[in-house]
Amino acid sequence: MFNSLLLAACAVASFAEAQSTFRAIPTLSASVDAAPSLVPAILDPTAPNAQDVCPGYKASGVVQTSQGFTADLTLAGAPCNAYGNDIVDLTLAVEYQAKQRLSVKIFPKHLVASNYTNGSTTAATSDLKFNWTNTPSFQFQVSRVASGEVIFSTYGKVIVFEDQFLEMATSMVPNYNIYGLAENIHQFRLGNNLTRTFWAADSGNPIDGNLYGTHPMYLETRYNNGSASSSHGVYARNAHGQEWLLRSDNVTYRTIGGSYDLYFLSGPTPKEVIRQYQGGVVGLPQMQMYWTFGFHQCRWGYENWTVLQEIVDGYANAGIQLETIWTDIDYMDQYRDFTNGAMNFPVPAGQAFLAELYAAGQHYVPIVDSNIYAPNPTNGSDSYEPFQRGAALSAFIRNPDDGDFYYGDNWPGYSVWTDFLVPQGQQFWTEELVKWYGDIPYDGIWIDLSEASSFCVGSCGTGHLQENPVHPPFRLPGDFNNVDFNYPEAFNITNATEAASAVAASSSQVAANSATALPAATTTSSSATFMRTKPTPGVRNLDFPPYVINNLFEGHSLLKNTIAPNATHNDALNTTEYEMHNLFGHQIANATYHALLSVFPGRRPFVISRSNFAGSGNITGHWGGDNTSKWGSMYFSIAQALQFMMAGIPMFGVDTCGFAGNTDAELCNRWMQLSAFFPFYRNHNVFASIPQEAYRWSSVAAATRTVMNIRYSLLPYMYTLFYEAHTSAETVMRALAWEFPNDAQLLNVDNQFMLGPSLLITPVLEPLVTSVKGVFPGVADGVVWYDWYTLQPLQVAAGENKTLDAPLGHINVHVKGGSILPLQAPGNTTATSRNNPWSLLVALDNKGQAAGSLYLDDGVSLVQNATKNVQLSYANNKLTASVTGSYHSAPALANVTIAGVSALPAAMTLTVAGQPCETGVIQLVQGGGVLYVTGLETFTTAGAWEGDIEMQFS
Ligand code: GLC
Repeated sequence: MFNSLLLAACAVASFAEAQSTFRAIPTLSASVDAAPSLVPAILDPTAPNAQDVCPGYKASGVVQTSQGFTADLTLAGAPCNAYGNDIVDLTLAVEYQAKQRLSVKIFPKHLVASNYTNGSTTAATSDLKFNWTNTPSFQFQVSRVASGEVIFSTYGKVIVFEDQFLEMATSMVPNYNIYGLAENIHQFRLGNNLTRTFWAADSGNPIDGNLYGTHPMYLETRYNNGSASSSHGVYARNAHGQEWLLRSDNVTYRTIGGSYDLYFLSGPTPKEVIRQYQGGVVGLPQMQMYWTFGFHQCRWGYENWTVLQEIVDGYANAGIQLETIWTDIDYMDQYRDFTNGAMNFPVPAGQAFLAELYAAGQHYVPIVDSNIYAPNPTNGSDSYEPFQRGAALSAFIRNPDDGDFYYGDNWPGYSVWTDFLVPQGQQFWTEELVKWYGDIPYDGIWIDLSEASSFCVGSCGTGHLQENPVHPPFRLPGDFNNVDFNYPEAFNITNATEAASAVAASSSQVAANSATALPAATTTSSSATFMRTKPTPGVRNLDFPPYVINNLFEGHSLLKNTIAPNATHNDALNTTEYEMHNLFGHQIANATYHALLSVFPGRRPFVISRSNFAGSGNITGHWGGDNTSKWGSMYFSIAQALQFMMAGIPMFGVDTCGFAGNTDAELCNRWMQLSAFFPFYRNHNVFASIPQEAYRWSSVAAATRTVMNIRYSLLPYMYTLFYEAHTSAETVMRALAWEFPNDAQLLNVDNQFMLGPSLLITPVLEPLVTSVKGVFPGVADGVVWYDWYTLQPLQVAAGENKTLDAPLGHINVHVKGGSILPLQAPGNTTATSRNNPWSLLVALDNKGQAAGSLYLDDGVSLVQNATKNVQLSYANNKLTASVTGSYHSAPALANVTIAGVSALPAAMTLTVAGQPCETGVIQLVQGGGVLYVTGLETFTTAGAWEGDIEMQFS
């Protein structure tokens, strides 16, 4: 669902269509979503300050271990019971896990820590040093051995450890620069006055509020007054509801449960921190299939297979690549997973549609929602077999009040959720996806609502299943009198007449609605308001923990819009959602990944999911959720993407042209061009807003063709970047601050980014302009930036905020001197592109050198029979391609373009696989500093990379 602030629906043009989709089923009363209102602790002046009232701990009984030490921590005074019951006896375990990674765990004494180490690092060989004191209570610091720089310090603060509240604070340097703590809608640099709340929420894209992902990891960079910068990372492995309070001189970390499981990463560059985090702690991102880097079109509101075919044809007719068509919940029978609506999306017609789609080399991905409809037990015609099968397996989360399943509410009505903590949850999920694939042979799965989203408070369906199906307790987009008249910021200037009629229609709707009962999507809270609960000795209050996090829904209760914290799993411990809430999204993505392994044995699963946790990149990609068709939303997409590159989920992109609200030609034009440089490139749109496929406006179509051809020619580069992410935690999209870590001017830059090491993207992020400003790092050190289109070096001074031409339809792309990019002529699909001739773009640095690499495999298999690595280099007027591996790419190398060559070479020699070639047919043309070498095809007719290539100019 959506944040009420972002609620969107249809435009004037589609108003009639929207009205006709109203479902004639009973609508739940808004009161089902009412919960007591609470005051978040950070806004509550009466909330106790644990630092003032808690005694802290004393350390004793230090025992040296092979890689660190353990100690007892004992409460140093009377329990403060600030927001829970103090735990008196704890264990501290300090472990030098690797040279660059120090682990600090604090947990109740009766538990045993699980460690994973490389077995050889000790305090004597670590980059990091752990210091501690017992005065006045146990406090610790982590510093760098080499420089003494303190990177984390609890000195001056007590450590609090209660059953429902943990607090630890580190002092910070003035104006500290920290990044990460995904997922957030915020500038890339998080600043020194922000609270990051982690409680997965179906909340749209709220600025600074909690939303889908939980990644309690930050990277800090210090610029050290102009000398080399130093960066380090802190990861706090804990899935409970939590808050990170970024304040002027400290960062305070609070959770409502769990233990301290901290990892300090020594960097010292940002890229090293990211590598240490992904490679050493949470795991590397999965490798994706080649076709997933093609362009994806989706929307909520594709009414039937015929409409879907029209969209596919629309792209073909416009000459715009379309790799994958998606369907939203429209295809389902009454929004029930693993079904197809008999009227609009019948299985036989779907099979015919898909056969044709697949024959054209295209792909299909449907949505699967996290909820499972619980059918009306009193109505035999309402039966829904997936529910019956899951119920027979006891595969659903339970309501602790009666031991039956937990019945919340979602699109289809009262629903249950799969319990992925027990094996039968996976079994259920796999069997359903395998079975449904027998009807509808999809290519990947889009998992939605995995926070998990429920539209009512508590097990509201308990005792009410006989009312099913029920309509959510708010108007849906497309329901009667719920038209969204929102447009992008400058629409009133570029389309004054339409904007005026939208404003008038909006006023009429407000007036009409004031007379009706059904509310627009909103959150409600009951009149009961209280500040917080008091801790009860020996008891945890799961639904109302004493510490109130700043959950962004009205009233702030943890009960809002999700499965209640006290709902239980079927495991032996009856684990509750209080512990598991932030992990549901990871678990369902993981279950889908493994189900797809059964559907497609040996094939890389393709899953795009909404809620996620640290490490989810091993098994899923992510889209940015419910953004809006606004310029600001497009701007934030860059920072959101950079967070996920850090977090290890590089298959990331946002709803291009905007999800909620109506887009317009100008915004969609700029956004189609920007997203072309994101790994996951999908246009998606809310129900009944104006259509926004790239071919709907001729100007957007033209802009898209331009950029799509760039993207498809760069597919080998993108794929190689993914391989490097998958094998060595290189980032795909990169912050300028990561690529040029010693340039303090870059610490805030989030309106530009790099794609890999070689391409700098400078998008237009505001309406009504024809130019854009950008920075071009490294110029003082001789870095040359070539314009992608002209291959001319940019004339720019060091530190200059350079103004670039950026008429509508043009996105600035610059190639970093020193790069070699492997390219293929763009085809209409990724498959045809893979069969097109190769070329190399060599952009020389100021020493006349360049380098690059290429990775190739079959693009599909988890385990490859054959791969190929090509190392590309240019020095002393010689281009070399060194080939290893046996994967065969059939197309030949057709041409080589070298930017930064001032004169036509007098001669050239070529050897392929050690054999000298007769170069008579090769054409060399030089002009404007660029050397074009064409006519190479005949020398590599067996495939471009079947042997080493050397091309010497003199
Ligand atoms: C959620 C998803 C959105 C989807 C809609 C309907 O809001 O985030 O992408 O279109 O549900 O399924």
